[in-house]
Amino acid sequence: MTPQSTFDFRQSLAARNKLAGVWRMMTNYRLPYILATAALAVSAASRTLTFLLLRYFADVVLGAQTFAFDTLNRTLAIIALGFVALACFEGLFSYLSGRLAAYTAEGITRRLRDYLFDHIQRLSFAYHSKTPTGDLIERVTSDVDSLRRFFSEQAIGVGRILLIFFINFAALLNLYPKLAWLSIVTIPVVLGVSLWFFKIVTKRYEKYQEQEAILSTTLQENLTGVRVVKAFARQDYEMGKFEKDNFEKFKRGRHLLKMHSLFWPLSDVVLGFQMLFGFVYGATLAINGDISVGTYVAYTGLITQLLWPIRNLGRIIVQASSGLVSYSRLMEIVKQDREALLEGRVQPDSPARGDLVFDNVSFMYTDGKSDVLKDISFHVRPGQAVALLGSTGSGKTSLVNLLPRFHEYTGGSILLDGAELRDYPREYLRKQIGIVEQEPFLFSRSIRENITYGVGRDVSQEEIERAAKAAAIHDVIVTFPDGYNTLVGEKGVTLSGGQKQRVTIARTLLKNPRILILDDSTSSVDLETEAEIREALNSLMQNRTTFIIAHRIQSVMIADLILVLDKGAVVQMGTHEELLAKEGSMYRRIYDIQTRIDEELEFEIARVN
Ligand code: UTP
Ligand code: MG
Repeated sequence: MTPQSTFDFRQSLAARNKLAGVWRMMTNYRLPYILATAALAVSAASRTLTFLLLRYFADVVLGAQTFAFDTLNRTLAIIALGFVALACFEGLFSYLSGRLAAYTAEGITRRLRDYLFDHIQRLSFAYHSKTPTGDLIERVTSDVDSLRRFFSEQAIGVGRILLIFFINFAALLNLYPKLAWLSIVTIPVVLGVSLWFFKIVTKRYEKYQEQEAILSTTLQENLTGVRVVKAFARQDYEMGKFEKDNFEKFKRGRHLLKMHSLFWPLSDVVLGFQMLFGFVYGATLAINGDISVGTYVAYTGLITQLLWPIRNLGRIIVQASSGLVSYSRLMEIVKQDREALLEGRVQPDSPARGDLVFDNVSFMYTDGKSDVLKDISFHVRPGQAVALLGSTGSGKTSLVNLLPRFHEYTGGSILLDGAELRDYPREYLRKQIGIVEQEPFLFSRSIRENITYGVGRDVSQEEIERAAKAAAIHDVIVTFPDGYNTLVGEKGVTLSGGQKQRVTIARTLLKNPRILILDDSTSSVDLETEAEIREALNSLMQNRTTFIIAHRIQSVMIADLILVLDKGAVVQMGTHEELLAKEGSMYRRIYDIQTRIDEELEFEIARVN
């Protein structure tokens, strides 16, 4: 990892206020920031000097009649050169400042994006299940961008404006102190108004961003679920929903911009009066002979230089509110605790044996109201297979998800090789456990990359093919023109549900885990393929503890222990023969129904033939 992404943005959480937090974010970038501001100061000072040169020109050259002809020419040439040099200086330093500002802003936000990406993928399952994806995407893109503008425009802008103000004010003080003080009497008013606007705009911008997040969630869900939308012909309904959300965003945006557009005329009127007052007062001073014409000329230039930054300061204060709102929205992600991966009281240095003891285990989801698992007790020995059977929603997936510590059990105890499961580091468990998820997910990458995803090393083609064959997917892959290099998803082939499932099985088998979990992994494949996979798995299941979740008795009957779950509780437990022997039991009922269906099917097939 580069030092870039190792910067810890959590430092900002301890800051006293938002500005202090933003300042902490600028670690390592403060020097370029200060240089950028200083370059602007030089640029501004050049402009100020231009006005002072103008004064000299008016008073000394135009005002004096006693110059000899070639002295005048020479003086004029020097003054002209002075103007050109100052203009070049102003341009050069403003360019330098722009470059440094871009470096600072882009650098900080690049580091922030890297950090957020990494941070988000390390947050708990519980956090992800309650946070809409669209909302997270919104924060990592739009909010980061608004913070970037804060750094490149507002943060640099404030430094620049203050410097320009003080340089010009010093020049004015030097010219005629009374005039200088009179030129800034309305500035407190402008600043006061700006702060008032700042407060209002902050609130409105927060509302605006919230709505934008809702909108991107709607969009993202619509795209992910486009099949459902089309299948149910609900385009109009979805459009209506989007329109409603979009209209709300429009209203909030209008509400926000109203404030922005009101600010300008207000501050312009106040500053306009200030300027007019200065011009008139200066003119009377010049007429009365209190100041020279040159001083008056320089004064009119300097006062615009002085008031322009104040006008901009107001704008920047108002705009900075967006950056600070985004800062807070990003900090909401940053402050979430990461899942500890390496910590644990037990730090095993060898692979797990796979001996698992469940003792009165109960479990409730963090946002749940009642236990989804109740008093579960059983014992699997290393290398044994356990099957979970039960109606939908009975808690099978929840049970196996406890093993890699995706969620923490809330009661009882689970012992892995004699030690409490929650004392193991999560990373260790996840390396030991291979899980074929109920809903297969593949990345938009090649089939090879998908299969080798879980192994952090180079894998030979032979190994990949062995896993693919065991998952009964090899024969399908070789029919694609690009074979294992075929891209999956948007840019390549679209695999069927069963094919996807089999690729995920191959991915898990290649990982060669000590504990194998197959969560309804053959639900989307036909009976024949299922039998094929089952056969291949039989040999692969040896020497590893296996959990099989399936609905078909054929898939579970080979298990050493079968648990029948109902509403989160184990209602029956034993081997196939033991369970079958119990007349009227749930297992027996399922068995009877399935064999009857199979027999009828065979009978029908025989009749047709
Ligand atoms: P499971 O997802 O464990 O059920 O949910 P299952 O046995 O695997 O069901 P199928 O066969 O795949 O359909 C058990 C209970 O936990 C709740 C569900 O609503 C269900 O009642 N649950 C599940 C949550 O509350 N939160 C979750 O994140 C997942
Ligand atoms: Mg399930």
